[in-house]
Amino acid sequence: MVRKKMSFWEEVEDFLSQAPLTDHRRQRILAYKESLLPFAVGIYNVHKARNAAGLIRTAHVSRAREFIVVGERDWTSAETRTADQWTDIKIIRELDQFLDYVKERGYRLVSVEKNERSVSLFEIERYPTPPLIFLGTELGGIPEEILAASDLVVHIPGGGLVPWLNVSVAGGIVVFDFLQKHKDDPAYDLSRELPAPGVRHGFLEFRHKSELRRRQREKASSQDG
Ligand SMILES: C[S@@+](CC[C@H](N)C(=O)[O-])C[C@H]1O[C@@H](n2cnc3c(N)ncnc32)[C@H](O)[C@@H]1O
Repeated sequence: MVRKKMSFWEEVEDFLSQAPLTDHRRQRILAYKESLLPFAVGIYNVHKARNAAGLIRTAHVSRAREFIVVGERDWTSAETRTADQWTDIKIIRELDQFLDYVKERGYRLVSVEKNERSVSLFEIERYPTPPLIFLGTELGGIPEEILAASDLVVHIPGGGLVPWLNVSVAGGIVVFDFLQKHKDDPAYDLSRELPAPGVRHGFLEFRHKSELRRRQREKASSQDG
């Protein structure tokens, strides 16, 4: 019998049905899932794990429905751990596979890059939706092939003796600029509150988190192959 591959959230639900968490905790996690918004964040060949961690945390808090890591560089590191647990992370090694995925999922590709063709975010009234907000590598930026396939290339104005913002800072600015500009659209309503956090479960909770991370890492390495 061929077993259907579970999606990230099916896996989380399967995990929640077995883990001895309180109902409150379980409800908080499921309420988070229900609050996810139709957009994604992605990055190309991130070098520093702390930048990946910062962006994944931004995607999580802004309720992006998935985070996409494109290229050869690996994101699995101790530094991303607290950020990656409840966010669906996809790893796609090849650029053409990434562009196929963007099409398949119906995303509009919004590249965050500063070049001769980019539009300042101060000039943008609306973003193409649903966006996949895509950031470049710390050295070299976003590949030309991806820029050429983008529906929009947006830049954050300004620049000092160091011309660039840190990549995770740039991602945070554009993600929340997009959400602010679409806040009148019910699809991008960020105001939904989650149930308040309950009492911490200390060691027990930590063990279950580790188990979920282990499953995620296994999944990531099977995607890898
Ligand atoms: C540190 S920058 C370096 C990219 C640069 N093109 C290069 O050639 O090295 C890394 C990434 O941060 C983002 N970034 C930083 N500052 C930006 C800005 N002012 N506007 C748009 N994107 C920015 C872009 O996604 C960029 O690819």
